[in-house]
Amino acid sequence: MKYLVTSALPYANGRLHIGHIAGAYLPADIFVRWLKLHKEDVVYICGTDEHGTPISIAADKEGVSPQELVQRYHEAIKNAFDAMEIEFDNFSGTARPGHYKLSQEFFLTLYNKGHILPRKTKQFYCETDHRFLPDRYVEGICPRCNATGARGDQCEACGQIYETTTLIEPRCKICGNTPIIKETTHWYFQLNNFKTQLTDWIGKKDYWKENVRNFMLNLLEQGLVERPITRDLNWGVPVPLEDTEGKVLYVWFEAPIGYISSTQEWAEKIGNPERWKDYWLDPETRLIHFIGKDNIIFHALIWPAMLMGQDKTYCLPYDIPANEFMNLEGKKISTSKNWAIWIDEFVEKFPAEYLRYYLACIAPEKNDSDFSFSEFQQKVNRELNDVLGNLANRVFTLINKHFDGYIKPIELTDNSKKVLEEAQSLYRQIDEGYKNYQVKWNAKLTMDLARLGNRYFDERKPWAEIKNNPLSVQETLYVCLTILHLVSVALYPVMPKSMNKLRKMMGLEAVSEWENIDLNIEYKLEKIEPMFFKLDDSIIEDEIQRLKQNAKLNSSKINQIPIKEFISYDEFAKVDIRVATILSAQKVPKTDKLLHLKVDIGNEERELIAGIAEHYKPENLPGKQVLMLVNLEPRTIRGIKSQGMILAIESEDNLILVVPEKYTPPGSVVK
Ligand code: MF3
Ligand code: ZN
Repeated sequence: MKYLVTSALPYANGRLHIGHIAGAYLPADIFVRWLKLHKEDVVYICGTDEHGTPISIAADKEGVSPQELVQRYHEAIKNAFDAMEIEFDNFSGTARPGHYKLSQEFFLTLYNKGHILPRKTKQFYCETDHRFLPDRYVEGICPRCNATGARGDQCEACGQIYETTTLIEPRCKICGNTPIIKETTHWYFQLNNFKTQLTDWIGKKDYWKENVRNFMLNLLEQGLVERPITRDLNWGVPVPLEDTEGKVLYVWFEAPIGYISSTQEWAEKIGNPERWKDYWLDPETRLIHFIGKDNIIFHALIWPAMLMGQDKTYCLPYDIPANEFMNLEGKKISTSKNWAIWIDEFVEKFPAEYLRYYLACIAPEKNDSDFSFSEFQQKVNRELNDVLGNLANRVFTLINKHFDGYIKPIELTDNSKKVLEEAQSLYRQIDEGYKNYQVKWNAKLTMDLARLGNRYFDERKPWAEIKNNPLSVQETLYVCLTILHLVSVALYPVMPKSMNKLRKMMGLEAVSEWENIDLNIEYKLEKIEPMFFKLDDSIIEDEIQRLKQNAKLNSSKINQIPIKEFISYDEFAKVDIRVATILSAQKVPKTDKLLHLKVDIGNEERELIAGIAEHYKPENLPGKQVLMLVNLEPRTIRGIKSQGMILAIESEDNLILVVPEKYTPPGSVVK
């Protein structure tokens, strides 16, 4: 079987963050590593997506040429992939001559067959900037779902594509003015010509992920409309027709062709320029596109149609494992708000494989998932260290102490045989899991494998048995080594370096295949080192702080709050704020936000209602010192007389209590 595995080509307009890695790259890399362990014939292809308005807008913003921007980010992105051990067979870019040539050939073939037709159309045009405003150059309200921030051609919120001129309240992204509508000519891909072919083809894909298949069936049902595949831009692949100055191919038309041009580049690099044909021109090749869910329509509908319309018989996508999104600490990752964990920064501080492991554990396969630093810490400390690292450590230590680092096969009792059968069964399930891209479930199963080893070790108490029954200890250690051996292969696709390190300590060669691990292996340990190290609370807290400090969340909202009008000093002097110590706190029944507090303000106890229940747990409040406005006219809220107001800061969606910097007797006056 031949496999061509691709990951979505990242735009060369910024750095990579964890969301990218989790969606389209890590799952693909894991799958490819697994295929390679099974000695499958596979090429893993990627490259940067170097055209389109995401690139030219970023270049304008930084004041550099698109070429310069693309080159810089291509390097940065490649380095980040290297650091994350994402191992492509080729990593190309779409602004290369081979790609231009092939993209133009794709266009012309479709054009000559009547699948591409010109149309006079209306397009947003900015009279201030004297230019057309394709795609992201214009922003407005989505005509389908009413979300704001929708682009000219597609809405990020609902994923739908629409005719640009239907955008509501359009604005020029460069100058902010309202554009006019002007006529221009564009070329339209006649998707409908492929309707039957597409329907038949997708009909057979009953093994596809439901999100992809349903999305497609839905679109086919809605009817296929012709799609413009050219743009008025000066950065891109020129339209290969007469009199088309200033027009380029739409980025989403040519970018997927990058999968082929990158394979061609690979073939040239390995000194066999025709080799790409063995994959792309064989209909039996399993072409698998790993993407994020926002890319489904292009990969599952438009791209297959483009392939169907060529003269050469290209293979069609065999599968399109589209992943959902990954959030960060409960909020959507946003590059513009800097709410993201950047790979280049992260790998400076933490081993890349800790991240690979954690991202595997929370792979957004069926649902959106959430990256949380404290969960990351837990996975590293409680699983990698306490389960797997601990198993290796206790087993190796005993072997070195009592067996001089050497363990031979030994006759096994039934109990041990049963444990190994269970281990082998987990190993087979993990193998099967990789086949189905089940990265998340496999991470769990692998830890179960190590847990099985720890449980068995505990039950057999080798540390106590060693005096009287050294043979039973040898058996225990042999079984545990076998389990570690299984783990070293099972977890290799996720943590290749760590697993090879483990194997080196066990005197084994690096992983090279999905081994059949039998019971005739002699283990001679080499130098032992800890496999993993734990992450301190302080490091994790620092990271969370840094993340929040660097984020520009809602900063625009804060700056928009106008400052109130001046007051006189006398007016200010009327305000009486004191230190109060919270004595008790209870939720006000049938409300979400309100707490009923009793506080000590020195010579007096007071009751009040505070709207902080969503941010503070009542049990954490007694003893806390806060600042309180004590001469606010009392009000009765929910039957309780509220005698004052405590001060809190509104920050994003959070309320933060204002507290004295040191202990202060209650009743102290704030000036
Ligand atoms: N650059 C696109 C994105 O980041 C993905 C392109 S995938 C390709 O959303 F197939 F078009 F190359
Ligand atoms: Zn403008």
